[in-house]
Amino acid sequence: MSKHVIIKKKINPFNKIITVPGDKSISIRFILLAAMALGKSRAYGLLNSQDCNASLKAISKLGVKVYKKKNYIEINGQGLNGLPFKNKTVINCQNSGTLMRLIGGLVCKSKKTIVLKGDQSLSQRPVRVIEPLNHFGVNVKSKNNKLPIEITGTNFLRPIEYKELKGSAQIKTLCLLCALNTPKDSVTTIISKSSRNHTEKLFKHLKIPIKIKKKGQYDFIKIKGGYQYSGFVQKIPGDISSASFFICLTLLSKNSKIVIKNVNMNKTRTGIIDLVKKICSSSIKIKNKKIKNGEEIADIYVKSAKKFKAINPDPSISSKVIDEYPLVFLLACKSSGKSFFKGIGELVHKESNRLKVCANFLRQIGVKVVEKKDSLKIYGNPNLNINKNITVKNFMKDHRIFMMACVAALTLDGNGIFKINDKDSIKSSFPSFITLIKKLGAEIN
Ligand code: S3P
Repeated sequence: MSKHVIIKKKINPFNKIITVPGDKSISIRFILLAAMALGKSRAYGLLNSQDCNASLKAISKLGVKVYKKKNYIEINGQGLNGLPFKNKTVINCQNSGTLMRLIGGLVCKSKKTIVLKGDQSLSQRPVRVIEPLNHFGVNVKSKNNKLPIEITGTNFLRPIEYKELKGSAQIKTLCLLCALNTPKDSVTTIISKSSRNHTEKLFKHLKIPIKIKKKGQYDFIKIKGGYQYSGFVQKIPGDISSASFFICLTLLSKNSKIVIKNVNMNKTRTGIIDLVKKICSSSIKIKNKKIKNGEEIADIYVKSAKKFKAINPDPSISSKVIDEYPLVFLLACKSSGKSFFKGIGELVHKESNRLKVCANFLRQIGVKVVEKKDSLKIYGNPNLNINKNITVKNFMKDHRIFMMACVAALTLDGNGIFKINDKDSIKSSFPSFITLIKKLGAEIN
């Protein structure tokens, strides 16, 4: 049985300055790229979570030495195609879609096989790596496009032209990592629907030959193979996805203020800020912008919102806010009017079917919604009152659903008691979530 929390009381007004743990996407990219660097790399502020630990364990199993120090993590990179792993090495990706989709990029040029496994949630998600890996000449054995799979690389990895039309940063990154391993100066072209671009930024920072042209919603990327980069040092900024729980907690709370310091503000990730500005514009401000390792960083100032506007965002924003939709839906519940979210079909393939799970949760708390395959209509109610007890089930260890439900329980009016299952799910991305929210005064049992 997974553990649950009980929330009986609303959070009292707070006024605090906080930081959130390191960005998960950047942390996992650091780990995988450090494994293929030549020599030692160091990361400060790497996220200490189950997904990142699974990634560290994965590179250790592939023969890379990892040193966990008090303030940093050091990885002794073996160079491109230098990983001395045994045939049929089993890698357990646990709950991490990013690790599952990216790891093929490290072994694509070896003739040895790796076996990928995952937890129950990951094992029901589409693996999506088969087609791009096959294109590069890599063999993948799978039953029905689900884990477990076996990946066997090749000595004859070839550059490709690939179209990534879903807006998946994970598949784009897999292609970038494979392209890096193709013969020297051979050119891979990736045409991809815009998605988070941390890998491209890191490649540029490491001087890996990459060229990107934006055309409308698409990025045309050209990357040359065979460029061996050296070990590097990275400071990982705070994760905007984790910060978002505190942004929404503050907006929905009464008479409260928060400053979240040193958060990654990469423009491919800040859809939550763009939408909050539309929903309750005067409640959020971004200050102290700077650039580190090619990534934008800033402090986010938030205060309680008085009013919430209904929104009808353009579907092109979807990849910029893909992990924050559950929170945006929650804000929409408090608006006066009907919000309409389109182009959100990708939510079906996350740690749980987030489209369905969110729609059901909103219905449970008394909000009218219309859910379709690719959209969600939410009929907001500024006077929303929850006076019955609510139990939130265990949704396949979906950390973001658990944390969103905690924010709802601590802020929405009414005397209903919330029982929220699956406390352990936070280990994937934000293990300190409950400790931090308690520091703001939340009573969670
Ligand atoms: C991620 C990309 C997104 C996101 C996930 C992390 C990444 O997934 O939902 O949490 O680090 O590249 P998709 O690439 O499937 O959209």
